[in-house]
Amino acid sequence: MSTPKPVAPFQPQETVPAVYPALTTIFLTGATSGIGLALAQRMLKEGKTVITTARSAEKLKAAQELAPGLVGYMLDMTTGDKVVGSVVDQIIKDYPQLDAVICNAGIQKTLYFNDAANLPDPNSTWKLEIETNITSVLSLIQMLLPHFLAKDSPCAIMTVTSGLAFIPSADYPIYNATKAFIHSYSMTLRHQLRKTNVSVVEIIPPAVQSNLNPEHREAHPERASMYMPLDVYADDVLEKLRGTDGQSFDEITSGFSEAGCGYARAFIRQRFQMLNPSN
Ligand SMILES: NC(=O)c1ccc[n+]([C@@H]2O[C@H](COP(=O)([O-])OP(=O)(O)OC[C@H]3O[C@@H](n4cnc5c(N)ncnc54)[C@H](OP(=O)(O)O)[C@@H]3O)[C@@H](O)[C@H]2O)c1
Repeated sequence: MSTPKPVAPFQPQETVPAVYPALTTIFLTGATSGIGLALAQRMLKEGKTVITTARSAEKLKAAQELAPGLVGYMLDMTTGDKVVGSVVDQIIKDYPQLDAVICNAGIQKTLYFNDAANLPDPNSTWKLEIETNITSVLSLIQMLLPHFLAKDSPCAIMTVTSGLAFIPSADYPIYNATKAFIHSYSMTLRHQLRKTNVSVVEIIPPAVQSNLNPEHREAHPERASMYMPLDVYADDVLEKLRGTDGQSFDEITSGFSEAGCGYARAFIRQRFQMLNPSN
């Protein structure tokens, strides 16, 4: 495959004040494996309190062995607002100093809609993807916002999207769109909260080694070299979150995801400001 020519000037990001260094207590969903676990390990080592939710006690125990100090609550993020709300209330009661959430839990389904006899079962595929990657994220953020906004210290809402939010892969038609949804929502939430103590940071991974969609990864060993090693990726995210001279980014990108965002950034940010004046 030949290298595509750039279609627009690449636009590096402008920096924003780094919020991560001041954070003390982070609710990080999906820390039982992959990116969430790797981030939790690093954040715990830096002295942060990290709280996660897990669907399986065995997985939680295994994660706690790999990430000593990780606090866990049993919860499937898709069980609905009543159950999720009661666990979130309990977390706030147990950790009133909670000052950040990282909405990292997510799933990815390989889906094809071109064979009428074998269309995906909606409930176990795209409805679950939308519930996990969009609905539960919006609900969690809305549940936590009153707590964050009542504080007089810096707080952060971090979403986890994907380079595929910008350049969709045809193997994951719904997944790409869920991440594009959360990207758009992150931009507008950041704008709406710009005069508050709550910062919105979007973590935008490229392809990274993890347990995401394992069947598809096993079926395509030829793609293995595309995946960034997990430790390399997690170190990069932490370095960018920590920032330099008190400055970081509101979109944390690496590799492919930086390319995807960078070519669109100049145009989109300029037009976003026209549509949404800052004052
Ligand atoms: N890896 C990549 O290439 C890549 C690229 C771009 C974006 N991302 C995003 O990065 C995030 C982390 O994914 P990953 O790659 O680290 O995958 P992963 O290894 O499969 O980890 C996903 C985590 O989310 C949890 N989770 C999923 N559904 C849940 C639910 N209903 N309730 C509670 N927890 C749930 C999983 O818990 P269980 O252990 O119980 O399954 C697991 O801890 C996702 O949002 C993903 O879309 C990943």
